[in-house]
Amino acid sequence: MSDQQAQKQAAAKAALQYIEDDMILGVGTGSTVNCLIELLPSVNLAGAVASSQVTEDKLRALGIEIVDLNVAGTLDVYIDGADEVNPELALTKGGGGALTREKIVAAASKQFVCMIDESKTVDVLGRGFPIPIEVLPQARSYVARQLAALGGEPVYREGFVTDYGNVILDTYDLDVSDAAAMEQTLNNIVGVVCNGIFAANRADVVLKASSAGVETITR
Ligand code: A5P
Repeated sequence: MSDQQAQKQAAAKAALQYIEDDMILGVGTGSTVNCLIELLPSVNLAGAVASSQVTEDKLRALGIEIVDLNVAGTLDVYIDGADEVNPELALTKGGGGALTREKIVAAASKQFVCMIDESKTVDVLGRGFPIPIEVLPQARSYVARQLAALGGEPVYREGFVTDYGNVILDTYDLDVSDAAAMEQTLNNIVGVVCNGIFAANRADVVLKASSAGVETITR
């Protein structure tokens, strides 16, 4: 097993402490979350709200009841991974393309616990990993021009369609030195459904795994 995979598993194990018996848990998407899902049979959940169809399928396969977010209401805890985390615990998400549903579940949760391996921490979002932006298909070209006008370099994620039937523009070179401001700017472009900057809905707790163990970072 690679060091990175071992770190993902360690972060997932540490996240178990935030899960209480009989809760409805918000469950994210991605390879780190997959490590958590493998551990969920060891806890007694009342159910789960899934942040993607992939996660929903995995949870169902374990016999965990899937609850509609509209029925569940406010969740106590949402656990997910991230592509990048800055010192304020703002995140880049959407490497797996589930950013919109992830942001909805994060927004509807009291506490967002984010599990990462040590490769995910950065000073400024968007300098390594691009910002994924979910766009209505008809607006793809228009939105790409607006992103270019902001200094970004959008790359169409070919062959990928989101759970909502939209497309993704992975956008390099945006100035995300003010994550909250760029999140708002991107939201204001007509045709953008959601962007992968999680500043308004940043993590409350980050569990950062490294070879030294798991560090708990709070805001
Ligand atoms: C899914 O759309 C993403 O937001 C993931 O949560 C993020 O890409 C982290 O994925 P890994 O845990 O696979 O690195």
